Amino acid sequence: MEALDKSAVLVAENLDVRYADTAIVTKLSLTIASGKITALTGTNGSGKSTLLKAMARLLKPYQGTVYLDGAAISTLPTTAVARQLAILPQSPEIPASLTVRELVEQGRYPHAGPLRMLKRQDHSAIDDALHLTAMTSFQHRMLDTLSGGERQRAWIALSLAQSTPILMLDEPTTFLDVRHQLEIMELIRRLNRERGMTIVVVLHDLNQAAKYADRMVVLQKGRIVADGKPDEVLTVQTLEQAFGIYANVIKDPESGSPVFLPYAIANQDGK
Ligand SMILES: Nc1ncnc2c1ncn2[C@@H]1O[C@H](COP(=O)(O)OP(=O)(O)O)[C@@H](O)[C@H]1O
Ligand SMILES: [Mg+2]
Repeated sequence: MEALDKSAVLVAENLDVRYADTAIVTKLSLTIASGKITALTGTNGSGKSTLLKAMARLLKPYQGTVYLDGAAISTLPTTAVARQLAILPQSPEIPASLTVRELVEQGRYPHAGPLRMLKRQDHSAIDDALHLTAMTSFQHRMLDTLSGGERQRAWIALSLAQSTPILMLDEPTTFLDVRHQLEIMELIRRLNRERGMTIVVVLHDLNQAAKYADRMVVLQKGRIVADGKPDEVLTVQTLEQAFGIYANVIKDPESGSPVFLPYAIANQDGK
């Protein structure tokens, strides 16, 4: 195995993650480079959410280590982790009776003092997060009155208010209509290009992943089966082997990224 650069921003080394006795992620090593958009893809149940949570320290690995800026993440204080890394899980629980702004305020707690008093800079980070996600006019609405797309943006605003250099998003576009999906993807790109954020995003839509990510990682049964630039990963072979479909891959005339068009189910165990 290639030696890992543990000073990279986020590194998983030989990670094994289990639920009870079931191994979900096995012997997985992954280095996330600073300032890039990395898309994690793979079929349902391939272990994407499990891996993301383990890398964000929401799940304790059975074996292996995650390094954040060179330090074993398990040894760092919670607030230190929360100042470096924000994660939006796949199905966050909706806190009862909170407004959008109250939700987004929670992103500032890692920066606040013991009494959780919000200062001027906290309020400006909250305003900025609401503005970036086009949620300013919704800030006093109760979360349970929002549409799916608005709620998703409120959660992204919460992650942004944390003002971290690393942002991890688990399927932020699922359940959104195509325009709202594009808005989220364009926001991710802007955060990366204009603010230099390091972004790790689980995406279901491989064409979107290919268009927006610098790097695509494909998981299959808890292992990495493809990893590289979209051109190297979104190929006829990977689509057959890791996703179980036959497809044509063409070039998007607009962006030049690969786009796949499925035409049949492959006769194998692409799970
Ligand atoms: N809390 C849990 N307890 C037991 N099994 C789980 C739990 N969460 C996920 N799994 C199982 O782990 C596997 C990988 O799940 P997950 O990481 O959510 O995959 P993905 O995000 O790629 O769809 C699935 O088989 C799933 O059923
Ligand atoms: Mg998932």
